[in-house]
Amino acid sequence: MKLLRHIANLGYGSRREVAAWFRDGRISDTHGNMLDEDARIAPGDVRLDGEPLDPPPGLVVLLHKPVGYTCSTKDPGRLIYDLLPRRFRYRDPLLSPVGRLDRDTSGLLLLTDDGGLLHRIISPKARIAKHYEAELAEDLRGDEAALFASGTLLLDAEKTPLLPAQLAVLTPRRARLTLHEGRYHQVRRMFAATGNRVTALHRARVGALTLDGLAPGQWRALDAADVQRVFAGD
Ligand code: URA
Repeated sequence: MKLLRHIANLGYGSRREVAAWFRDGRISDTHGNMLDEDARIAPGDVRLDGEPLDPPPGLVVLLHKPVGYTCSTKDPGRLIYDLLPRRFRYRDPLLSPVGRLDRDTSGLLLLTDDGGLLHRIISPKARIAKHYEAELAEDLRGDEAALFASGTLLLDAEKTPLLPAQLAVLTPRRARLTLHEGRYHQVRRMFAATGNRVTALHRARVGALTLDGLAPGQWRALDAADVQRVFAGD
């Protein structure tokens, strides 16, 4: 792909804007030599205003989603995209969340522009473990772990029972729940089915990938080894 188009597709600006940046000498190689738009050069060796370009398509972002942000490009209110460089919203291919977390859920969220990877992660066949920590309005009854593990729990308005899920009780009102699927508001609806209510929800881990010190609102680009971690673990 032509360099001009590559830079525009990374969301930096329109093709017309990027063409002007070439003319203005803002696009160079690693030695500061000005490039023209037909230059044949690896994007990794290109500098824009002296800075390396963003990662090419195949980008996977790990975001520590704070409470209060919506996984959408256009809802009113704060969006997960507000936490990333603004140009990421204009990348082509699009950077999409891998599944969703509710506005009031915090924790590990992946975004990618790799549609194949996205489907491999969210596919029910992949059975990737998602680990949640829930705080509850009422004390646990004691029978929730057996019910969630049974593979027979049918949520309101659903036709197929949930896959077995593992519950670890941390305190009478705190629990860790491991799911191998991702239905709409699943954790909140599971506890609602037991007469309880989730007051705070956090996703700590997907596969073997954790937030690993990333503070709420922070993000980083994943490398191939990180991505493999998503497919590891139980
Ligand atoms: N289950 C929920 O209820 N909410 C989430 O955000 C994720 C899983």
